[in-house]
Amino acid sequence: MSVMQVTPARWKRAQQWELALWSDPAARKSGDDWNLWWREQFDGYAALPASVDSMIELGCGPFTNTRLILERCRAERVVCSDPLAERYAELPDCWLSQAAAAGRVELDAHAIEELPLDAGSFDVVVMINVLDHVCDAALCLQRAAALLRDGGFLVLGQDLSDDEDIRNFPYDIGHPIRLSLEDVERHLTELRPVLRRVLSREEGRSPDGHSGNLILIGRRSNA
Ligand SMILES: C[S@@+](CC[C@H](N)C(=O)[O-])C[C@H]1O[C@@H](n2cnc3c(N)ncnc32)[C@H](O)[C@@H]1O
Repeated sequence: MSVMQVTPARWKRAQQWELALWSDPAARKSGDDWNLWWREQFDGYAALPASVDSMIELGCGPFTNTRLILERCRAERVVCSDPLAERYAELPDCWLSQAAAAGRVELDAHAIEELPLDAGSFDVVVMINVLDHVCDAALCLQRAAALLRDGGFLVLGQDLSDDEDIRNFPYDIGHPIRLSLEDVERHLTELRPVLRRVLSREEGRSPDGHSGNLILIGRRSNA
């Protein structure tokens, strides 16, 4: 019953919805899209090193989780990647546009499925609250894990859906993909969990629509 892949046309409709959402100044007012909540679930990202060479956030959104992760884990090179990155950079009142204008982060506007970056080129890869929005979730998971250097960390936060969720909410324009825990973890077997927590429906951030959440920091070891 999971939905792992949608057509490019369906994905584009979801992206139009996403852009319309963040184009509304009222929606941007808080300056946060659950990023503070995710940080708490990840124990303040305490499992990450205090500094690394390079970090990328995939599907970073206008507010990013990077802004909070950098408080714990400094990085020489920071890439914020999102197909809407250039549009978010035009919004005056969000962290991404301000950080990019100040030269603190590099912007990239590719979808994960089409990222032209070399495998093994990042110490930290962040992908939080993204996979429900993509075109091909399996490919995104594989690409995210492949970007890690030996010893690198994947920070993955993911809403989980079961059959009941999909039956009750058969069409949601902004969230075309629905994944179970198994759908996600079967693509990450090369990583060793450093932090792994599966929140129940009641503990999760949206009990009405999701059976829980996966909170995962996985480490690549090529040894
Ligand atoms: C709900 S927002 C979350 C943003 C951010 N991760 C956060 O937690 O604040 C989902 C983001 O995923 C992006 N997205 C959708 N499809 C994508 C894809 N194929 N590759 C990368 N990002 C994608 C959207 O443009 C949107 O900014």
